[in-house]
Amino acid sequence: MKTVLVTGANRGIGREVAAQLAGRGCHVFIGARNVAGGREAADAIVQGGGKATFLEIDIASEASVEKAAREFDKLTDRLDVLVNNAAIMMLGSDHRIFLITDEVLRTTFETNAIGPLRMVRAFLPMLSDSPEPRIINVSSGGGQLQRPTRKGWSPGYCVSKTALNGITVQLAHALPSFAVNSASPGWVKTRMGGPMAERTVQEGADTIVWLALDAPQSLTGKFVKDRQEIPW
Ligand SMILES: NC(=O)c1ccc[n+]([C@@H]2O[C@H](COP(=O)([O-])OP(=O)(O)OC[C@H]3O[C@@H](n4cnc5c(N)ncnc54)[C@H](OP(=O)(O)O)[C@@H]3O)[C@@H](O)[C@H]2O)c1
Repeated sequence: MKTVLVTGANRGIGREVAAQLAGRGCHVFIGARNVAGGREAADAIVQGGGKATFLEIDIASEASVEKAAREFDKLTDRLDVLVNNAAIMMLGSDHRIFLITDEVLRTTFETNAIGPLRMVRAFLPMLSDSPEPRIINVSSGGGQLQRPTRKGWSPGYCVSKTALNGITVQLAHALPSFAVNSASPGWVKTRMGGPMAERTVQEGADTIVWLALDAPQSLTGKFVKDRQEIPW
């Protein structure tokens, strides 16, 4: 049985990824800063016959991430897949690149870029015990530098995802026995994506679940959408 940890798994795409991975027989750790929501998501999986454990994690806090790693280490012997899903978009104050305050930019980077790297640092010993360790950084088409259309929305969020993509490439080089990839879920109906989005959470979760369990271990250092490599 593979052990996976999904951050931001109390709602949205993260919750769906956790449910699908549990449905595929994984022991899923529901990483969430929202204790009630995280417990409820874990309970829903257990009630459906899956294996899930809630783990309190605020990825924007080094102390919280380190505490979660210590807890996790007591509960299980290794981590096979880390899904860095949790992220924020500060919609009200992230409109134009030349108007974003340092504070908004710092807060966005703290969660969306430093948070995933902090998770890798804290959980690296447990990932290293896996025969096929995998890290999936949930990124966004907004972080794509070669993106032809729809530039300009939430630029602080977009550059935080570009930074996350850079972290994916660096990690893939630094950890050659790991599979480390960025995933783009597309525009998905969640609190972040809004009701007008094109995709269901099931569709948004598909490539992430594929990278977690089905993609070849040799696929690493890539940006992946709809199970296909896309340009950075
Ligand atoms: N929806 C889209 O159209 C879309 C498109 C491209 C990429 N993405 C990416 O897909 C991922 C999931 O997005 P989503 O649409 O499911 O968003 P969402 O519905 O807003 O959910 C975001 C999740 O991240 C959690 N989170 C945020 N900050 C956190 C922190 N510091 N510590 C722990 N958890 C934290 C939230 O927890 P709380 O409930 O506690 O706030 C929530 O569980 C994100 O990486 C996002 O950037 C989404």
